[in-house]
Amino acid sequence: MKLSNRRTFLENISKAGALGLLPTMGLAQDNPEPNKIVVGPYLQNLTPDSVTIVWISSKKSLSWVEYGEGRYTSKKALAYNNGLIEANNCIHKITLKNLKPGTAHRYRIVSTEILGFKGSRVEFGESIESPLLSFSTPELRGEEVKLVILNDIHDRPQIIPQLLYRHGYKGNEKDYDFVVFNGDCFDWVSSEQQMIDHLLQPCIDIFASETPFLLIQGNHECRGGFSRHIPEYFAYPENKYYFSFRQGPIHFLVLDSGEDKPDDNVEYGGLVAFDQYRETQAEWLKKEIEKEEFKQAPFRVLLIHISPYHSGDWHGTLHCREVFGPILNKAGIDLQISGHTHRYMMHEADENHNYPIVIGGGPLEGKRTLTKLKADSKKMYLEMIRDDGEKLGHLEIAAS
Ligand SMILES: [Fe+2]
Repeated sequence: MKLSNRRTFLENISKAGALGLLPTMGLAQDNPEPNKIVVGPYLQNLTPDSVTIVWISSKKSLSWVEYGEGRYTSKKALAYNNGLIEANNCIHKITLKNLKPGTAHRYRIVSTEILGFKGSRVEFGESIESPLLSFSTPELRGEEVKLVILNDIHDRPQIIPQLLYRHGYKGNEKDYDFVVFNGDCFDWVSSEQQMIDHLLQPCIDIFASETPFLLIQGNHECRGGFSRHIPEYFAYPENKYYFSFRQGPIHFLVLDSGEDKPDDNVEYGGLVAFDQYRETQAEWLKKEIEKEEFKQAPFRVLLIHISPYHSGDWHGTLHCREVFGPILNKAGIDLQISGHTHRYMMHEADENHNYPIVIGGGPLEGKRTLTKLKADSKKMYLEMIRDDGEKLGHLEIAAS
């Protein structure tokens, strides 16, 4: 075939629509509804110089965040993976980096539908975006921090607005920089929709588009067919469920207490390895408490779902006590906050643990608690409030 004829041949098959008959990957996605934001955005892992913004779109999309300091959104962030810009997905998790500490920022999220791939060519659809939202990065080594802690909600999402609207305000202002869910938000986790309805949407309705929250794994987050997908929706330092971070004068340690029964319990179907996991965490913890930033912090607070003490004598409690207990007693911990037992209690330091332990209650009416913690460089103050407004107790701890 001469070159000119070949060109004509190609033009002809193109005109005839032959190229149009090539199979297209995902063109005209199954759902005929227009693309929409299913849930979000919500903030995760807000540090003095970074934040991760998460949302879910109904259609596979290319997504980004437009943001900037003050009133401007002149910067754009996308997520990258192995040289590819994250796209053609529905869970969008985008980290803004190199932010200015202690500064108000504006942002909006944008998702452009990807209709499909036609050979190597990408077909784009409509773009959708959120309204302009805002957040403020904390100061680096800020003077103050205030947070609220909920625990053991157990698939009763009404607890979130009930406790936060009744007791999470000081005047008209939210009385927290971030919210901690200290485990067992669910009974077991079966679907994305359950996570949206029972945690994400109630948080977004109240605070989560502009104020971050932290989900700590409890033993019930370990259960159910969807449990292994939970981390896809959240962001953590190092993307692990155990980590440390500094906010204001407090250095927080987060440990994952794992399941409450032995790994070979029939309930877990042979699919868990928490003894090994807790031992790995203990090795990490040994190194963590030797770091200067940990030792030098005015306060050290441990967040862990199952307390190694005062939480019965099942295997999870006892193994946490065995592997974490001796390290924690050497660490100069000022305060531990837990859940799990469903009975609110405050325990002074004793011969087993040389720091106070506060355990939040739940999930039934009359047993639900909101724990409020605030600190400046001189003192840390904790207050536990029951859902009916009864103040159950408080602690005041001076900086060492
Ligand atoms: Fe629990």
